[in-house]
Amino acid sequence: MTHIAILGFGVVGSGVAEFITANQKESAYVGGDGINIKYILDLRDFPSSPFKNKIVHNFDVILNDPEVSTVIEVMGGSHPAYDFAKASILAGKNVITSNKEVVANFGDELLKLAKENGVCYRFEASVGGGIPALSPIISCVRQNKILEIRGILNGTTNYILTEMFTYGASFEAALCDAQDKGYAERNPAADIEGTDATRKIAILTAIVSGKLLPVDKIYTEGITKIRDNDVKAAAKLGATVKLVARGIVSGDEPLAMVAPFIVMNTKFLSAVSGVYNAIEVIAEPLGDVMFYGQGAGGGTTASAVVGDLVQVMSTGTNYTAPVFEKSEPKVAFESFCSRHYLSFAPEDFEKIESKLGSYSIITKNKEIAIITHEMSEAELTSLVSGIELKSHIRVLD
Ligand code: HSE
Repeated sequence: MTHIAILGFGVVGSGVAEFITANQKESAYVGGDGINIKYILDLRDFPSSPFKNKIVHNFDVILNDPEVSTVIEVMGGSHPAYDFAKASILAGKNVITSNKEVVANFGDELLKLAKENGVCYRFEASVGGGIPALSPIISCVRQNKILEIRGILNGTTNYILTEMFTYGASFEAALCDAQDKGYAERNPAADIEGTDATRKIAILTAIVSGKLLPVDKIYTEGITKIRDNDVKAAAKLGATVKLVARGIVSGDEPLAMVAPFIVMNTKFLSAVSGVYNAIEVIAEPLGDVMFYGQGAGGGTTASAVVGDLVQVMSTGTNYTAPVFEKSEPKVAFESFCSRHYLSFAPEDFEKIESKLGSYSIITKNKEIAIITHEMSEAELTSLVSGIELKSHIRVLD
């Protein structure tokens, strides 16, 4: 019997407890002789929960219990989650987490510490909810030359974009719905402003490049500036607007970013709707590989957490763990090249028309919307300086 403690009894923590209870037989089949949830740490009490007798309020109870071999940290936030994870590892306990904030900020240190202490630090659930992506990428894809890892990594924003632009919902109603369904972060600004996706692309990029970029140095743009007009213009082009996270590796150096992109309908990413996420790896000589599934929600995230747990129970530290180190970005975002969707008032368009080179017009009404030729961020900035852009969305070609 493996005795575990769950830190945090929110959407994911309760999902994990329910998953383990409902799937004892399946988990035992792959992972050993059963899982006992010995403790659940939370500040609150849950008098009507079937797990009420497991609740403890003091982390030391867990830390000092030698029977607890694995700690599942699903609290969210950096502190005290990081401190509890570190203390658990130092006490010889395996740590499994869905906490992308901790992995993106401290993953390098905790992986190293886990190795030194002969325990596991696993975080499959930190990216892509229930999609089994990290382990297969590490063990079956990483041996290639990785050119890019990219995807739709935030279920809440993808759900909002789908509800708004496919079903006509308002932003507020779509967000409320995403919160009710347990997709959104406690503070949904992290979803909407792109930070959640940035943490996830930092983790993915670290796995494929060995370099963990500081989250605050990754270019991040959320979904708040996307307008109905832009989505209609994209549709006219045979495309969709998606929040895309990209980790591009040139030589050994990664460049990561999160921003809305116009994605042509010929690309699989354009068809990823609702809470679904997709992670695409472009590698040589492998080519394209895609991972797809639900990216948020208690049950689906619990599946990835318990997947890590059964791996810990069955193989322990005998697996290919990721290795990465913190690294300042060496490739400037200003060098990133793409085509750009721009929209202006007609008088502003006239001011730069002659400097645009080749471009195509998408709409020409009260606003003029165009797609530029491929150019770097630096070139674009200089091109539009002094011009008021009504919209600017990059194109994923
Ligand atoms: N808020 C996150 C999302 C949860 O919407 O994708 C899963 O990481």
